[in-house]
Amino acid sequence: MHGTSRNSRVAIFGATGAVGRAMVRVLEDRDFPVAQLRLIASPRSAGQTMSFRGAQLEVVAVHEEVFTDIDVALFSAGADASRRYAPLAVESGAVVIDNSSAFRLEDGVPLVVPEVNPHALANHRGIIANPNCSTIQLVVALSPLRRYGLKHVTISTYQAVSGMGQKAIDALLEEVSAPRTEDKTTLFPTVSSESHVPMAFNVLPQCDSFLENGYTREEMKLVHEPRKILEMPSLSLAPTAVRVPVVYGHSESVEVTFSSPVTATEVRTALESAPGVQVVDRPGESLFPHPRMAEGSGLTFVGRIRQDLDRPNVVHMFIVADNLLKGAAYNAVQIAEMLV
Ligand code: A2P
Repeated sequence: MHGTSRNSRVAIFGATGAVGRAMVRVLEDRDFPVAQLRLIASPRSAGQTMSFRGAQLEVVAVHEEVFTDIDVALFSAGADASRRYAPLAVESGAVVIDNSSAFRLEDGVPLVVPEVNPHALANHRGIIANPNCSTIQLVVALSPLRRYGLKHVTISTYQAVSGMGQKAIDALLEEVSAPRTEDKTTLFPTVSSESHVPMAFNVLPQCDSFLENGYTREEMKLVHEPRKILEMPSLSLAPTAVRVPVVYGHSESVEVTFSSPVTATEVRTALESAPGVQVVDRPGESLFPHPRMAEGSGLTFVGRIRQDLDRPNVVHMFIVADNLLKGAAYNAVQIAEMLV
């Protein structure tokens, strides 16, 4: 039986990474009932200190017994590390909330966005998966539109480099500040360390690695994960995932086809009362969602809601959220709050 007491002993695995640091901040900001916080990373970071509620906590290196006496373990150290350590953490009595892709599509592992499918949590067996960042903001905005009959969704993303981790943030900032040069060592690492392309002042239609079918892994996450979370296994989705030189905040241009005519006003009204959504849609005043607006917020911002020019059953919208917060750390802590 996995459970958590009121004051939880919490571990963050991947604490020194971009998402791990955001997790520490969110626990503080939301006043999560933490009895004890254990910060875990690779041996490279052991001995570093990070501050939490005014105290300096030392980062410890991961090892097989590091999750002993932990109630809630927030994992964000990559899929390989999750596959290796999540079962050990569960065995030692922790509930794992895993931010990696390792278990998301497994039967028996709830894939949870609290505003959308909180009921899925009930059947967990120790591991709960946090969805992909682009998926979370998409389903927060699609879920309230289910009542109109979702038929097809076309998505183009504009994704921040922080989704690739702290090293990618550093690489972009360095590239922006350094004079442009053809020296390959200063260019941005896409996915494999052998291939480098400029990221500053550029747009790259690649997020994660390419698959046999011509789509990237990120794009296929945007197909499989919404189907599982929305419980619509045959929903049709067509994603294109693009990396842009933004540090924090993913944007998505989304075209929704309904099974019958739906107006932009109906969509706007449904979204205005939806949990976790803030409609920002006053184009006359240049008020629309953008990544700098979303930075630091746990909300999903939606705007540019408009009818298709030719098809009465199609509505377009623009969706923005902080990928490290609602797309990762904030969603994970929301799940933890539901467990406590
Ligand atoms: P470290 O900082 O010691 O390398 P990001 O996604 O920002 O790159 O962060 C990844 C996080 O996961 C970091 O805290 C990193 O620790 C940690 N991490 C990555 N791989 C491993 C691993 N194999 N074992 C332990 N920690 C890992």
